[in-house]
Amino acid sequence: MTRWLLTGGAGYIGAHVALDLLASGREVTILDDLTTGLRSRIPDGADFVEASVLDTDAVRRALDGVTGVIHLAAKKAVGESVEQPLLYYRENVGGMVSLLQAMADAATPCMVYSSSAAVYGEPPWSPISEDSPLTPLSPYGETKVIGEWMVRDEAVARADSTPLSWVTLRYFNVAGAGSPELGDTSANNLIPMVFDALDRGEAPQVFGSDYPTHDGSCVRDYIHVSDLAAAHVAAAALCESGGVAAVFNVGTGVGSSVLEVMGAVSDVVGRDVGAVAVDRRAGDPPELVASVDRISAELGWSAQRDLRDMVASASAARG
Ligand code: WQD
Repeated sequence: MTRWLLTGGAGYIGAHVALDLLASGREVTILDDLTTGLRSRIPDGADFVEASVLDTDAVRRALDGVTGVIHLAAKKAVGESVEQPLLYYRENVGGMVSLLQAMADAATPCMVYSSSAAVYGEPPWSPISEDSPLTPLSPYGETKVIGEWMVRDEAVARADSTPLSWVTLRYFNVAGAGSPELGDTSANNLIPMVFDALDRGEAPQVFGSDYPTHDGSCVRDYIHVSDLAAAHVAAAALCESGGVAAVFNVGTGVGSSVLEVMGAVSDVVGRDVGAVAVDRRAGDPPELVASVDRISAELGWSAQRDLRDMVASASAARG
């Protein structure tokens, strides 16, 4: 039996990962400062430490008896990162300095790092593989690239003393809920924003209808949060085997346009949502779809749920 520390384990994604880790027979400690995480999301059976990853002493204490860390605690709003870059560097990069220091002190042997498709910026081709150039377009994406470099560099530095086995997961567009109480409570992303607009009695907006895509709206790779959680358990198991240094995209490999998402929402709510096209939003690449060949071949993981599952479960989680 191994124990894993989940930073940000009271968040939307972290809560799903915690449940899957427990179900896999692993023990779980959640470390979360509850700034955006919710105490109610911490599952029975998980230990809980209320602390920030920036508190190196608290992290070091929480690492006692821990085999690996799944590091999800981070700021994640792209627009906010443009307005407050230092906040993102402090929390995301400073958080990594603190965590990796504590892990070195405790000789923790495994790490799964939560990265993002935002590391690719506007990709030169699609689907995009892990070896493609990293050209992030926001401070948020930059902090994720730096975090990737940090874990890789730290593993090199520790190789001859306390080896660190690591997996970086680059999430594409995460959506849906594994159960009604675990929905995404922030309205930063397309599907929650569509439901928020419907709740207000407003028409959902399509940001841009003149992109060079099959229907003119932006194409993304939406991935169900329950599939994403399963990828973390597979990554943790791979890390436990030792000597691992790997980067994986986590997506479905299938692109869906904004208009197709609107169609899926219309199907789920049983009426046309009446989406209206508005101007493009600055900084949106036309198409961002994952190549999933590597994660399928090397981790044996693939997504099981489709867009309809994501929209239906997101709807059910809104009560
Ligand atoms: C999806 C598509 C919008 C709202 C961001 C981050 C990424 C990751 C996920 C982090 C885009 C369009 C949206 C609306 C719309 N974050 N849209 N109407 O921008 O692909 O990715 O979130 O961890 O790093 O960049 O996601 O959900 O904001 O947008 O038409 O009301 O929906 O233009 O094409 P995005 P999103």
